[in-house]
Amino acid sequence: MKDLFEKIYKDKGPLGKWAAQAEGYFVFPKLEGEISNRMKFQGKEVITWSINDYLGLANHPEVRKVDAEAALKYGSAYPMGARMMSGHTELHEQLQNELAAFVKKDAAYLLNFGYQGMVSTIDALVSKDDIIVYDVDAHACIIDGVRLHMGKRFTYKHNDVASLEKNLERATKMAEQTGGGILVISEGVFGMRGEQGRLKEIVELKKKYNFRLFVDDAHGFGTLGATGAGAGEEQGVQDDIDVYFATFAKSMASTGAFIAADQEVIDYLKYNLRSQMFAKSLQMQLVVGALKRLDMLRTMPELKKNLWTIVNALQTGLKERGFDIGTTQSCVTPVYLNGSIPEAMALVRDLRENYGIFCSIVVYPVIPKGLILLRMIPTATHTLEDVAETLDAFDAIRERLTNGTYKRMSASVMKAMGE
Ligand SMILES: Cc1ncc(COP(=O)(O)O)c(C=O)c1O
Repeated sequence: MKDLFEKIYKDKGPLGKWAAQAEGYFVFPKLEGEISNRMKFQGKEVITWSINDYLGLANHPEVRKVDAEAALKYGSAYPMGARMMSGHTELHEQLQNELAAFVKKDAAYLLNFGYQGMVSTIDALVSKDDIIVYDVDAHACIIDGVRLHMGKRFTYKHNDVASLEKNLERATKMAEQTGGGILVISEGVFGMRGEQGRLKEIVELKKKYNFRLFVDDAHGFGTLGATGAGAGEEQGVQDDIDVYFATFAKSMASTGAFIAADQEVIDYLKYNLRSQMFAKSLQMQLVVGALKRLDMLRTMPELKKNLWTIVNALQTGLKERGFDIGTTQSCVTPVYLNGSIPEAMALVRDLRENYGIFCSIVVYPVIPKGLILLRMIPTATHTLEDVAETLDAFDAIRERLTNGTYKRMSASVMKAMGE
């Protein structure tokens, strides 16, 4: 009989096979210092473009003060137990009410983590006769939620409304047989490439098909829409999103998440979300910290304004210099270049060591072979000088990529990897 661990010893997986070359530098890097536009990497200052601290709250003095005071007052234990049993408080309720009002929904419910909360919400919303139709490029937490579903599911081509419609036709026929309903899931902003989900057009399909819409707006919350209520507000369809999700891990620079919907839906989820019913309640320092952050989102519109000044300067600058930034419609700023994984490694090393620029690098299998994606996350803490310095550095690395410098530098790595 085969040893269960055989695959672990033999095959480290498409990303794991690069561990010897990548770990500690390209993956699992240790960024040090206060979270801000400039941090330290391996002892050197770098302009940091890889942290989702969109509004610059992570290290805002008022936020740090409230976090510290809450930690002192409550410690990290309080409250103990699941919400349903012993972990419920006035402040949890207050935060839910304020979040619901912020995203223009009747009610909200807190989740300890976005990832498991999404998984659990999908699980709670469908039963085996129901059908899920979701974007093929959905975040891993959506895919995992769908995996729990015992009934049928269909993917539609990424952000392709015609493909969604085709799948809705199939799903409708199937639902007529099973007696179930249909759940459509999209992201508000797709976090890798930055496009907004085509929520307006998806909502339009509600006139023809009977379905409920669940939107994961992790990257839209706080960054899009006139009041920061996200991609639904930006596209004028917030009311037509049946279940809205956002995490505290990005604009709110914290941990935790929430879902918002009509009161009856939230009342149902509250009693059916297994990840919340059978797990400790969100700890109080996070609740108090989230109340403070939400207040800042509401009362300090300059945070979002500053963010967009940087986003616009960076995206316009990149486009003017001829970089391919794809189809982003959000703060997420991808830069696509052509090259192999070893070339990408040499390029990123050059960026970090010689230009002091730290951004995330995404390669195959997350994106197609031969493409390098440098994913940049502008924040309200960045300055126009950071942008100018970064644009000049990008010009320089593109020149070296095209003249074969990185290919030559990476020849030995490629040979070792059999590429
Ligand atoms: C689109 C999307 N959904 C869900 C999550 C998970 O949220 P959390 O980090 O709170 O678990 C993330 C990542 O943070 C995300 O990017």
